[in-house]
Amino acid sequence: MSAGVRHSAAGASALPTLEAARARGVPIVMLTAYDYPTARVAMAAGVDVVLVGDSAAMTVLGYTTTRDITVGELLVLTRAARRAVEGIPLIGDLTFGSYEASDAMAVATAHRFVAEGGCDAVKLEGAGEMISRVRAIIEAGIPVVGHVGLLPQSVVTPDGYRAQGRDADQALGIIADAEALEEAGCAALIIEAIPAEVAALITARLSIPVIGIGAGAGTNGQVLVFHDLLGLGEGHVAKFVEQYAQGRAVLEEGARRWADDVRAGRFPTAVHTYAITPEAMAMIRQRLPNASN
Ligand code: KIV
Repeated sequence: MSAGVRHSAAGASALPTLEAARARGVPIVMLTAYDYPTARVAMAAGVDVVLVGDSAAMTVLGYTTTRDITVGELLVLTRAARRAVEGIPLIGDLTFGSYEASDAMAVATAHRFVAEGGCDAVKLEGAGEMISRVRAIIEAGIPVVGHVGLLPQSVVTPDGYRAQGRDADQALGIIADAEALEEAGCAALIIEAIPAEVAALITARLSIPVIGIGAGAGTNGQVLVFHDLLGLGEGHVAKFVEQYAQGRAVLEEGARRWADDVRAGRFPTAVHTYAITPEAMAMIRQRLPNASN
C-alpha cells in the first residue's frame, strides 16, 4: 500500500490533498495516465492526482469499449504508472465485471489494485446496488472515488456516449446518487457529461471534492483522458474535450521522416555510428578466413 492511503478510508479525509484544494477553492487537476511515460508527463505537468482509467481499453489497448479490459491488463498499466507517480494520489479504476456481483468480489478486486497496482484509492461507476460495494471497500480500508452521470461501463457501442441529466427526473436521480455516494463515504466524486448547472448544484450540495469531465466549470476540479487532451487518439473527440496538443500528428510526422530517410540513405550517418580504428579493422580482415576485402 502506498503512502497516500490513510488510517481512515472514509470521506474526503482519505484523499487529504484533494480535500485541501477543495477547501481552499483551488481547482483540482486530475489526468489519466496508463504507463510510465504518460505518468511522467502528468507529473511534469504538475497535476494533483493521476487516474489509471479503464479508458485504457480504448486509448492504449485498441478495444472498442471500456467493458473489454480485464483487471490483469489494467494492473500491468497501473504498476507502470505507479513507478512514475510520487507524492500525489494514484487512483485505479475497477474494471467492468470485477466488482459488481458482490461486496466480497469488490473488496478482493480493490485489494489487488492497492497491493499489486500500488493505488491509493479505487474508482468505481454508479450508485444503487454499488453503494454496498463502496461501503465494503471503505470498510476494508481502501478509499473510494465514485463516478456518476455518464457511466462508460454501461455503454456497449461507440455511439452510446451521451450526455446525462438533461431532464429533471434524470438530473434528480444523478443528484441522489451523488449524495448517496458521499453518504457511503466516498473520498471524491467524478461526474461525467452532465449539464454544468446540474454539476454545480451537486458540487454545492456535497462536501467531498467533485471532479468533472464534461460537467462545466462549477465543480471542484477537472479530469480529462490523456490521449484526448494531447491529441494522441484517432477519430471523434467528445464535445467537452479541448486538445492542447496534436501529439499523434507530431509522432506520425517524426516516424514518417525517419522512414523516408532510411529509404533514401540519409539515415544513419556518421554521427549515429561507433568508431573503430583502421588498425583494428585491418586486424579483423586479416584474421577472418577467406577474407575478400
Ligand atoms: O476511465 C477513465 O478514464 C475515466 C475518466 C473519464 C474519468 O473514468
